[in-house]
Amino acid sequence: MPYEAYKVLHILGILLLFVALGGIALHAWNGGTKQDNQGRRAAAAMHGLGLFLILLAGFGMLARLGIIQGGLPGWVWAKLALWLVIGGLFLMPYRRPGIAKPVFLLVPLLGALAAVLAIYKPF
Ligand code: HEM
Repeated sequence: MPYEAYKVLHILGILLLFVALGGIALHAWNGGTKQDNQGRRAAAAMHGLGLFLILLAGFGMLARLGIIQGGLPGWVWAKLALWLVIGGLFLMPYRRPGIAKPVFLLVPLLGALAAVLAIYKPF
Protein backbone atom coordinates (compact mmCIF):
# COMPACT_ATOMS: atom_id res chain seq x y z
CA MET A 1 0.00 0.00 0.00
CA PRO A 2 1.38 3.48 -0.79
CA TYR A 3 2.49 5.98 1.87
CA GLU A 4 -0.43 8.32 1.07
CA ALA A 5 -3.01 5.55 1.65
CA TYR A 6 -1.44 4.74 5.02
CA LYS A 7 -1.62 8.41 5.94
CA VAL A 8 -5.34 8.59 5.11
CA LEU A 9 -5.90 5.47 7.25
CA HIS A 10 -3.83 7.02 10.07
CA ILE A 11 -6.06 10.10 9.98
CA LEU A 12 -9.25 8.00 9.80
CA GLY A 13 -8.06 6.10 12.89
CA ILE A 14 -7.37 9.38 14.72
CA LEU A 15 -10.85 10.69 13.88
CA LEU A 16 -12.51 7.47 15.08
CA LEU A 17 -10.54 7.45 18.34
CA PHE A 18 -11.18 11.10 19.18
CA VAL A 19 -14.88 11.07 18.27
CA ALA A 20 -15.35 8.01 20.53
CA LEU A 21 -13.35 9.52 23.38
CA GLY A 22 -15.11 12.88 23.10
CA GLY A 23 -18.53 11.23 23.14
CA ILE A 24 -17.71 9.16 26.21
CA ALA A 25 -16.16 12.08 28.07
CA LEU A 26 -19.08 14.44 27.37
CA HIS A 27 -21.58 11.76 28.40
CA ALA A 28 -19.72 11.15 31.68
CA TRP A 29 -19.34 14.91 32.23
CA ASN A 30 -23.17 15.10 32.09
CA GLY A 31 -23.47 12.44 34.79
CA GLY A 32 -23.96 9.54 32.38
CA THR A 33 -22.79 6.01 33.15
CA LYS A 34 -21.47 3.25 30.90
CA GLN A 35 -24.81 1.41 31.19
CA ASP A 36 -27.03 4.35 30.19
CA ASN A 37 -24.93 5.28 27.18
CA GLN A 38 -27.09 4.19 24.23
CA GLY A 39 -24.13 4.42 21.88
CA ARG A 40 -21.63 2.51 24.01
CA ARG A 41 -21.15 -0.34 21.55
CA ALA A 42 -20.57 2.05 18.65
CA ALA A 43 -18.15 4.08 20.78
CA ALA A 44 -16.25 0.95 21.86
CA ALA A 45 -16.03 -0.29 18.26
CA MET A 46 -14.84 3.09 17.00
CA HIS A 47 -12.31 3.33 19.80
CA GLY A 48 -10.87 -0.13 19.08
CA LEU A 49 -10.84 0.26 15.31
CA GLY A 50 -9.33 3.73 15.63
CA LEU A 51 -6.45 2.52 17.81
CA PHE A 52 -5.81 -0.39 15.45
CA LEU A 53 -5.77 1.79 12.33
CA ILE A 54 -3.48 4.40 13.93
CA LEU A 55 -0.93 1.74 14.82
CA LEU A 56 -1.17 -0.25 11.58
CA ALA A 57 -0.96 2.82 9.36
CA GLY A 58 1.72 4.42 11.57
CA PHE A 59 4.01 1.42 11.05
CA GLY A 60 2.98 1.27 7.38
CA MET A 61 4.18 4.85 6.90
CA LEU A 62 7.41 4.12 8.81
CA ALA A 63 8.09 1.19 6.47
CA ARG A 64 7.41 3.31 3.36
CA LEU A 65 9.65 6.10 4.68
CA GLY A 66 12.43 3.56 5.37
CA ILE A 67 12.52 4.63 9.03
CA ILE A 68 12.09 1.21 10.66
CA GLN A 69 15.56 -0.14 9.72
CA GLY A 70 18.05 0.30 12.51
CA GLY A 71 15.58 0.88 15.35
CA LEU A 72 12.84 3.40 15.99
CA PRO A 73 13.70 7.10 16.48
CA GLY A 74 12.72 8.87 19.70
CA TRP A 75 9.72 10.70 18.26
CA VAL A 76 8.12 7.36 17.31
CA TRP A 77 8.57 6.00 20.85
CA ALA A 78 6.99 9.21 22.17
CA LYS A 79 4.04 8.73 19.80
CA LEU A 80 3.65 5.12 20.93
CA ALA A 81 3.53 6.36 24.55
CA LEU A 82 0.87 8.96 23.62
CA TRP A 83 -1.07 6.24 21.76
CA LEU A 84 -1.11 4.16 24.96
CA VAL A 85 -2.11 7.10 27.16
CA ILE A 86 -4.88 8.39 24.85
CA GLY A 87 -6.12 4.83 24.24
CA GLY A 88 -6.14 4.08 27.96
CA LEU A 89 -8.37 7.07 28.72
CA PHE A 90 -11.44 5.41 27.20
CA LEU A 91 -13.17 4.15 30.37
CA MET A 92 -11.57 6.63 32.77
CA PRO A 93 -14.37 9.26 32.54
CA TYR A 94 -16.82 6.63 33.88
CA ARG A 95 -14.47 5.23 36.52
CA ARG A 96 -13.51 8.71 37.77
CA PRO A 97 -16.22 11.18 36.62
CA GLY A 98 -14.12 14.06 37.96
CA ILE A 99 -11.70 13.67 35.07
CA ALA A 100 -14.41 13.69 32.37
CA LYS A 101 -14.16 17.46 31.94
CA PRO A 102 -10.33 17.59 31.75
CA VAL A 103 -10.33 14.64 29.32
CA PHE A 104 -12.84 16.41 27.08
CA LEU A 105 -10.93 19.69 27.14
CA LEU A 106 -7.30 18.51 27.16
CA VAL A 107 -7.15 15.38 24.99
CA PRO A 108 -7.14 17.43 21.76
CA LEU A 109 -3.84 18.93 23.00
CA LEU A 110 -2.35 15.44 23.40
CA GLY A 111 -3.44 14.72 19.82
CA ALA A 112 -1.78 17.95 18.68
CA LEU A 113 1.40 16.87 20.48
CA ALA A 114 1.36 13.59 18.54
CA ALA A 115 1.01 15.61 15.33
CA VAL A 116 3.92 17.91 16.28
CA LEU A 117 6.14 14.87 16.94
CA ALA A 118 5.46 13.45 13.46
CA ILE A 119 5.71 16.74 11.60
CA TYR A 120 8.78 18.29 13.31
CA LYS A 121 10.49 15.01 14.41
CA PRO A 122 12.33 16.91 17.17
CA PHE A 123 14.35 13.89 18.40
C1 HEM B 1 -3.18 8.92 19.08
C2 HEM B 1 -1.98 8.85 18.58
C3 HEM B 1 -1.53 9.54 17.31
C4 HEM B 1 -1.97 10.70 16.74
C5 HEM B 1 -3.05 11.67 17.24
C6 HEM B 1 -1.19 10.90 15.54
C7 HEM B 1 -1.31 11.97 14.67
C8 HEM B 1 -0.59 12.15 13.52
C9 HEM B 1 -0.72 13.27 12.61
C10 HEM B 1 -1.73 14.42 12.76
C11 HEM B 1 0.19 13.11 11.63
C12 HEM B 1 0.49 14.08 10.49
C13 HEM B 1 -0.18 13.72 9.22
C14 HEM B 1 0.31 14.66 8.13
O1 HEM B 1 1.52 14.83 7.95
O2 HEM B 1 -0.54 15.21 7.45
C15 HEM B 1 0.89 11.87 11.86
C16 HEM B 1 1.88 11.35 11.06
C17 HEM B 1 2.58 10.20 11.34
N1 HEM B 1 2.42 9.37 12.43
FE1 HEM B 1 1.03 9.57 13.90
N2 HEM B 1 -0.32 9.83 15.40
C18 HEM B 1 -0.50 8.99 16.46
C19 HEM B 1 0.16 7.82 16.72
C20 HEM B 1 1.19 7.31 15.95
C21 HEM B 1 1.90 6.09 16.21
C22 HEM B 1 1.61 5.15 17.38
C23 HEM B 1 2.84 5.95 15.21
C24 HEM B 1 3.85 4.85 15.01
C25 HEM B 1 3.58 3.59 15.05
C26 HEM B 1 2.72 7.07 14.32
C27 HEM B 1 3.47 7.30 13.21
C28 HEM B 1 3.33 8.34 12.32
C29 HEM B 1 4.13 8.53 11.12
C30 HEM B 1 5.22 7.62 10.62
C31 HEM B 1 3.66 9.68 10.49
C32 HEM B 1 4.16 10.28 9.16
C33 HEM B 1 5.37 11.12 9.37
C34 HEM B 1 5.87 11.68 8.03
O3 HEM B 1 5.12 11.68 7.05
O4 HEM B 1 7.01 12.16 7.99
N3 HEM B 1 1.69 7.88 14.79
N4 HEM B 1 0.40 11.32 13.03
